[in-house]
Parts: sequence; structure tokens; C-alpha cells
Amino acid sequence: MTPALERLVAAVEAALGDPSLADDRARAEAMRPALAALLADADPIPAAARQPLDGAAVGNLLHQDAAGRFHVLAVVFPEGTSSGIHHHGCWGVIGYLDGSDEETRYREGDPGGPPVEASRHRWAAGDITYLLPPEDGWHRVRSAGPGDGVSVHVLCRTPADHPHRFYDRRSGTVLPYPFVEVAPGRWRAEVRQFD
Ligand SMILES: [Fe+2]
Repeated sequence: MTPALERLVAAVEAALGDPSLADDRARAEAMRPALAALLADADPIPAAARQPLDGAAVGNLLHQDAAGRFHVLAVVFPEGTSSGIHHHGCWGVIGYLDGSDEETRYREGDPGGPPVEASRHRWAAGDITYLLPPEDGWHRVRSAGPGDGVSVHVLCRTPADHPHRFYDRRSGTVLPYPFVEVAPGRWRAEVRQFD
């Protein structure tokens, strides 16, 4: 834990415990200054958390709330890699630390149909975005460089419980996409086929 990370965790705890904040957007806004400060800090996260795993994308766990309300990941996408279209089923606050991200957002499509593209953004170091389902939970991210894309994700629930789904273009179906701990403290989303 760096001091900047400790301050971010304290701000998230305060936001989640503040009854005057009416909804996820208000709580995300309350978390934003501490994340902005972390992104601007000279020592934002441990150096090891900026590393991919075996050359591929990974989420390095920085903190998990003792009550299971949220966790903080350093998500590393090697330059040029893409996430595919996926859905977060509860809130998230994302801040960009290294590289850049071409992010496409989607809205829910017709029943049984694909998610429909809604917007595209290019994010760079210092930018902050929110995941606010059910309206705004689908996205695809592509690491556009230079270098590995590293972003700090504050996400609802624990990594193992984070509701995450994947849109499989080939079959046109939505599949479970749980985070799996592939090495100690290192998490990767894996598409699961239905039995
Ligand atoms: Fe995502």
C-alpha cells in the first residue's frame, strides 16, 4: 500500500458509508478526488502492480475491503491488446495511469440481440471514468499505447463476486466472465461456457 492508495481506500470507505449520497453516481463523484490525487502522485501504486502476467492482461489486486463491498485493481493491458465486449453488473470507478485506452461503450440491445455501440473515447493518463449499470455497464477497452496500459479500477464487491459477463460475437450469446485468481493476488477474467 502506498500513502496515495491508503487515501483512496479511505475515500471509498467514506463514500460508501455516507447516507447523504443518493446513488452510485454520487458515490463515484465522491471517490473521484482521491483517485485523481493518486493518478497525479509520484508513487501511486507499487511497481510490481504495473506488470502484466506472462505478457498478457491481468488485474493486480491492490486492496480488498474487509466487508466485501469493493476492491481495487491495477489493470494492466499490454499495448495493442483488447478486452472484448463485456459487462459490469455493478458500479466501478476507473482512473488511467499509464498508456491510453480506446474505450467503446454499448447500451443494452434488443432481447437476445447484441449490445449496441453508444460512444467511443480515448482516455489517457489522469482521466477518470465510471461504470454505472444498468444504463452504462457494457464496454470494450483497447490498449492504445504507448507502452502497457495501466489503470486503477475501484470495483464493487470482491474480485470473485464481481458480476462480469462477456458478449461472444461468434455465437451471439452473453456468457459468464468471472474473475479468476490465476496467481496470488493476480486476477484475470475468463469466459465460461454454459454446460
Ligand atoms: Fe471492464
